[in-house]
Amino acid sequence: MSKIRLGLIGCGGMMKNHAKGIEVLDCVEITAVCDVDIEKAKDVASVLKSPYVTDDYKTMVDHVDAVLVVLPHHLHFSCGMFFARAKKHILMEKPLCNTEEECLRLIETCEENGVTLMCAYPVRYWQGVQKLKEYVDSGDYGKIMQMSIWTEQLTVVDDQHWIGTACVGGGQLFSHGCHYIDILLWFCGNPVTGSHLGTNVGTPWMLREGTSVVTMKFENGALGYHGATWGSRGTKLGCNFQIIMEKGLLEYEHFDGEVRLYDALKEHVPGEAIERGNSYKVLWKRESEVNKETQHEVAHFADCVMNDKKPVTDGRSSLQSLRVIWKMYDAEKFGVMADLRGLGIEE
Ligand SMILES: NC(=O)c1ccc[n+]([C@@H]2O[C@H](COP(=O)([O-])OP(=O)(O)OC[C@H]3O[C@@H](n4cnc5c(N)ncnc54)[C@H](O)[C@@H]3O)[C@@H](O)[C@H]2O)c1
Repeated sequence: MSKIRLGLIGCGGMMKNHAKGIEVLDCVEITAVCDVDIEKAKDVASVLKSPYVTDDYKTMVDHVDAVLVVLPHHLHFSCGMFFARAKKHILMEKPLCNTEEECLRLIETCEENGVTLMCAYPVRYWQGVQKLKEYVDSGDYGKIMQMSIWTEQLTVVDDQHWIGTACVGGGQLFSHGCHYIDILLWFCGNPVTGSHLGTNVGTPWMLREGTSVVTMKFENGALGYHGATWGSRGTKLGCNFQIIMEKGLLEYEHFDGEVRLYDALKEHVPGEAIERGNSYKVLWKRESEVNKETQHEVAHFADCVMNDKKPVTDGRSSLQSLRVIWKMYDAEKFGVMADLRGLGIEE
């Protein structure tokens, strides 16, 4: 197989990003497009080489080897199960499914049917995040002391939109923070304990939290932090990754597309003025404009399907970040820290 025949399911906001990303790939041909709102499907199909267009994904089976599922969260499971049983490979938008039971049933059904299941976690495949990981793994900067990830955006939806309601499976942390919990696990390893605090002050369109703060501690002693909001009317940090290492501070600034090293701070002598010390060296710069960069994850999925490889963010690996989130949500109800032992990404 030199190309996979890919079906697109759910032609809303996110599919527009995917369509742009897939356009540049040679390993994928979009052969079918589906949305219950047929006009949306036709709109996406209009720029493609006459794919099959439908409002019922069950009729796509003969036209595809694999599907990209970009549906509201409560529909991931039923759609995934349909294509797993039909032996079609699945690239599922995050979060994999709304519950642990649904995730496990989908993962097992894919395994039984020889189907590649990958969760669309594009942040893992962003070039800047990959570079940041290379610098951390190089050993040049010592061990991770603390990793922080911030995302500040204004994502407002009307009362009827599925993202604000219970059917989404959680609030901002589950819907969006899952990307960054996955990243914290990837960089820092097995978590030991963690906490989540959420609020919907300032984001009344969210039934659950629109703003989240996560703290974690890992087996290797590293600390993790994730601060995120869908209600910020201004932003300083945008989408920013910062790692305090023993020998310097590494940063990935997503919008500027730069990996930076800050290591010029002089030792502070108690009693003397503290210097700001925020000059940095640019270690790597992205050449392309900022976008969702979904092409890298789709290319990885296609490679795994064509060459029978296990995706980096396969079903089981992506379930780990959701388990961490569910444990922290449960602990939050009781005002305690969550025990995250046994939930590491390698297990
Ligand atoms: N990776 C990212 O950065 C990112 C960003 C945004 C959204 N997402 C994910 O993408 C998915 C979709 O989010 P969105 O923002 O595009 O939502 P959306 O509401 O804009 O789009 C969903 C689309 O699915 C269609 N649909 C609903 N039921 C259907 C069915 N039974 N069959 C076919 N089509 C159906 C709707 O008509 C709509 O066009 C979610 O999983 C979300 O978390 C990911």
